[in-house]
Amino acid sequence: MPQKQRKILVTSALPYANGSIHMGHLVEYLQTDIWVRFQKLRGHTCTYVCASDAHGTPIMLKARELGISPEELTERVSAEFVRDFSDFDIEFDNFHSTHSPENEALVTDIYEKLRENGDIYTRTIEQSYDEKEGMFLPDRFVRGTCPICKSADQYGDACEVCGATYSPEDLIDPVSVLSGTPPVKRDSEHYFFKLSEYTDRLRNWMDSAALDRNMLAKLEEWFETGLQDWDISRDAPYFGFKIPGTEDKYFYVWLDAPVGYMASFKNLCARDASLDFDDYWKAGSDTELYHFIGKDIMYFHTLFWPAVLKGSGYRTPTSVFAHGFLTVNGQKMSKARGTFINGRAYLDHLNPNHLRYYYAAKLGPTIDDIDLNLEDFIARVNSDLVGKLVNIASRCAGFISKRFDGQLSATLDDRALFAAFSDSADPIAEHYENREYSKAMRMIMTLADSANRYIDEYKPWLMIKDEGKSDAVQSVCTQGLNMFRSLMIYLSPVIPGVAAEARAFLNESGWTWNDAAEPLLNTRINKFKPLLTRVETSQVDAMVEQSKSSLTKKVEAAPVTPDNSISIDDFMKVDLRIARIEKAETVDGADKLVALTLDVGDETRNVFAGIKAAYDPATLIGRHVIVVANLAPRKMRFGVSEGMVLAAGPGGEDIFLLSPDEGAKPGMRVK
Ligand code: 2FM
Ligand code: ZN
Repeated sequence: MPQKQRKILVTSALPYANGSIHMGHLVEYLQTDIWVRFQKLRGHTCTYVCASDAHGTPIMLKARELGISPEELTERVSAEFVRDFSDFDIEFDNFHSTHSPENEALVTDIYEKLRENGDIYTRTIEQSYDEKEGMFLPDRFVRGTCPICKSADQYGDACEVCGATYSPEDLIDPVSVLSGTPPVKRDSEHYFFKLSEYTDRLRNWMDSAALDRNMLAKLEEWFETGLQDWDISRDAPYFGFKIPGTEDKYFYVWLDAPVGYMASFKNLCARDASLDFDDYWKAGSDTELYHFIGKDIMYFHTLFWPAVLKGSGYRTPTSVFAHGFLTVNGQKMSKARGTFINGRAYLDHLNPNHLRYYYAAKLGPTIDDIDLNLEDFIARVNSDLVGKLVNIASRCAGFISKRFDGQLSATLDDRALFAAFSDSADPIAEHYENREYSKAMRMIMTLADSANRYIDEYKPWLMIKDEGKSDAVQSVCTQGLNMFRSLMIYLSPVIPGVAAEARAFLNESGWTWNDAAEPLLNTRINKFKPLLTRVETSQVDAMVEQSKSSLTKKVEAAPVTPDNSISIDDFMKVDLRIARIEKAETVDGADKLVALTLDVGDETRNVFAGIKAAYDPATLIGRHVIVVANLAPRKMRFGVSEGMVLAAGPGGEDIFLLSPDEGAKPGMRVK
């Protein structure tokens, strides 16, 4: 049945223009690019736009540090983005910037409409201010001692050790990270958007948007807590757009960032006459709009953004698709381990098609995290893409070109077998549509197995020795190449580079999804060139080596002075013991903590450790660590901590548990 042609606009989250694209970002851009390529292959009008997220304090400060203007910084970084994306075969229809005239016009207009509706009001709030730098400080720019667990050098919004969240004014001895001076409190008038009045409208949107069940649960939770009005302004100095009618107030970066989706599309419409801005954005539009995002920015995309769109008279998103985070080898990405891998470091050593396939083989439609296990990556890519897929063609192509002058036979050898390939078009398409890529890849590889079994059964390399079987070799190899071709069409959204070469080999000018159901017969094909080579461990090792950087935060050992030295008697008071981790669990509501149950020899202890950014709890069980066993129990927000586990490193994902050599047993004293 012919499908209705759809008009679809798709976005990925806009990357901040002060860093590089890394393997974590790529989960999203590859997930989106695969979906868009699939829609285009199906004949729909699908437009994929993105942009650099150019505004905000971190970008302003980074530019200052480099001695360049923020415009220059964001242009430089955007040029790097465009190169990286293009080398991963991520094909945007437009890549723009939020620091653009289109975006300024749109966000200003949206703001005016919200103001006319009575959705904007001002309120004076008290904030941390750095007198030396002459600027208000975002929470992350204030550090001090945690008011709860008293750990030193914590951020102004949350403690990395105990997981408590608070505001910068609660910190003990706070300092500005910019000047090192204590911030003062200062009043400032801020602009607020009345999100609290949008609950019913957002509920209606949520009911129509076919959101993932995890996302629905999160939204329910937010509705139950009650929606808070949203502070949409920031004081000068700030890199952003000035709020009309003010001298020193700017739109908060998160207000103009999603408007950047519209701006990028508007910029595209100006040079593509087939696209009409209003057709896609006016209220009641019958086009489709999807945002692909990471699970960490759901609040912005499922509450603020649809509310702002509704309030300003635009259509709302058809749906929002959130994905999970990426771990590498089961752990958070870490610079010290070399697993914080930039896109460019990958491209310097490996083929983008390999990563595209690996992510596809792992991705589903939920917010579950996915793991890039480097050993599994090598094994999977070599076995599936090289061992199964390309192998089909390389075992058949030579005979067609050498013995039959590149001519495919006029009929297939096994129509019924080919029918299994064409009949799979619909279920595979459904998996792509639902972002069930791992299921689609499994179906495709099962078909590849059956194609290889077929070739194994006929053994054209033996048949060719028998003069009487010459015609049969041609039709067996034509069968093999046609099965390969259908699979390549199904895989072309995932490995477009390989698919393009396969298509050139088959001497075809273009493919649509439906071409997979019709065999290619009685035609001349080109000489076969190897389409993909195996991934070697040495390539992956070289990438990891290149990604290892010296730790950025160097800790200098403080000189020993009468004020900070301790006596040997003091030291002897510290009871250090070997412990075995019996249980390791995440702590509800604490972003940084892992709850450990430790066997310390004659008893077990519960200890909270701020190591979640560095370790997946499941990998910790059974591991031996060193623990301060006679630390007085400390009452924390989540329970009592009965000791402290020793670790080294600057913190966050770069923290390393100290482990004893083999042979050490729980309870042994450390001397
Ligand atoms: O979280 C981020 O990296 C943001 N730069 C994403 C912005 S998405 C959109 F709203 F612009
Ligand atoms: Zn704390």
